Amino acid sequence: MLAAVAEKYGGPDVLKIKSVAVPEPGDRQVLVRVHAIGLNFADIIGRWGVYPGIPKPPFIPGIEFSGTVAARGAGATRFAEGERVMGYSRVGSHAEYVSVDERMVGAVPPSVSLDTAAAFPVASMTAFHGLRTLGNLQSGERVLIHAGAGGVGTASIQLAKHLGATVLATVGTEEKRRLAEEQGADFVINYRREDFSKVVRRMIGSSGLDLVFDSVGGPVFRKGWSLLSVMGRYVLFGLSSVSGRGRLNRLRALRVYAQMGVVLPGILISSNKAIFGFNIGTLTGKEQYLADTGSRIVDLLKQQVFRPVIGNRFRFDQIVTAHTELQAGRTMGKVVVMVREAEDD
Ligand SMILES: NC(=O)c1ccc[n+]([C@@H]2O[C@H](COP(=O)([O-])OP(=O)(O)OC[C@H]3O[C@@H](n4cnc5c(N)ncnc54)[C@H](OP(=O)(O)O)[C@@H]3O)[C@@H](O)[C@H]2O)c1
Repeated sequence: MLAAVAEKYGGPDVLKIKSVAVPEPGDRQVLVRVHAIGLNFADIIGRWGVYPGIPKPPFIPGIEFSGTVAARGAGATRFAEGERVMGYSRVGSHAEYVSVDERMVGAVPPSVSLDTAAAFPVASMTAFHGLRTLGNLQSGERVLIHAGAGGVGTASIQLAKHLGATVLATVGTEEKRRLAEEQGADFVINYRREDFSKVVRRMIGSSGLDLVFDSVGGPVFRKGWSLLSVMGRYVLFGLSSVSGRGRLNRLRALRVYAQMGVVLPGILISSNKAIFGFNIGTLTGKEQYLADTGSRIVDLLKQQVFRPVIGNRFRFDQIVTAHTELQAGRTMGKVVVMVREAEDD
């Protein structure tokens, strides 16, 4: 089979398309014939070698896919051969086939295409876990969502509106502003034109935000933290500001960490604020929670609460370009890389 192999850690050019052996499905694993890859910022960080648990090179990156079940390993009972599936893999989806734990895979509803399915699991699971489970977002509350036109951002706006919240979002371009508005955001701020914290303060006065959903970190964190109301929750789940939009720079990473400062636990008591961090890729031992949440987000997909936005589509032989564009912050919605052109290919 063909696979995009990271021959060493580094920039997009370390990815080389090569012929490698089809992986055997192990215990409770299914072998999936990949139709399309959902590209994620985690794939960028993994390629650089700084994602938790990433294997040593050479390895095949890729945490998200859609496709059909090609074979089942011992003890794998949930899916039949030929069934349309989507899912999450720690690595390996940048390939024509991937073997994954069947508990990390879900059936694709008949009304949903395999293209759309590739754009669904990670962004929607992230939005649900962060906004609903941890953030406990309630109807009538005010939430600020950073990177509102991205893969996670668009899913988060859709979910937050469904929950009845007032949604404020930040984006980096006017085109992204339009996309975030189309998802239902009530107020979208282009942070390159205006200081988002001043705009938010002007809009909401001294009452503050109930929830901040932050995947950017760095300078954004301090400003967002100061905008939280009494009983406000801050959910930090990414540090894309570390990337510098081009490459990993360790000095820059240190500066970004320093800009975030320190939140003293004692201060949380009298200020009545909470902070959560999470990474769905490291929710070890929470397989049942992930399975239950998977069912809930698929229900929301069927109800069209989640409407995955494929903003950028690439062919498999363009995977280096796909990584370059996502890393540079030039993409909108989800980035999908087509391994096969049609579902019956
Ligand atoms: N913890 C978890 O479990 C989890 C799961 C999924 C994703 N995430 C995190 O969520 C974030 C979004 O992931 P995604 O895959 O959906 O990506 P994405 O939002 O589609 O793309 C990243 C966006 O972040 C913004 N950005 C801000 N600073 C950036 C920088 N220095 N370099 C590049 N982009 C920058 C850009 O939008 P603007 O132009 O609007 O600034 C860019 O388009 C990432 O930080 C990712 O690590 C975390």
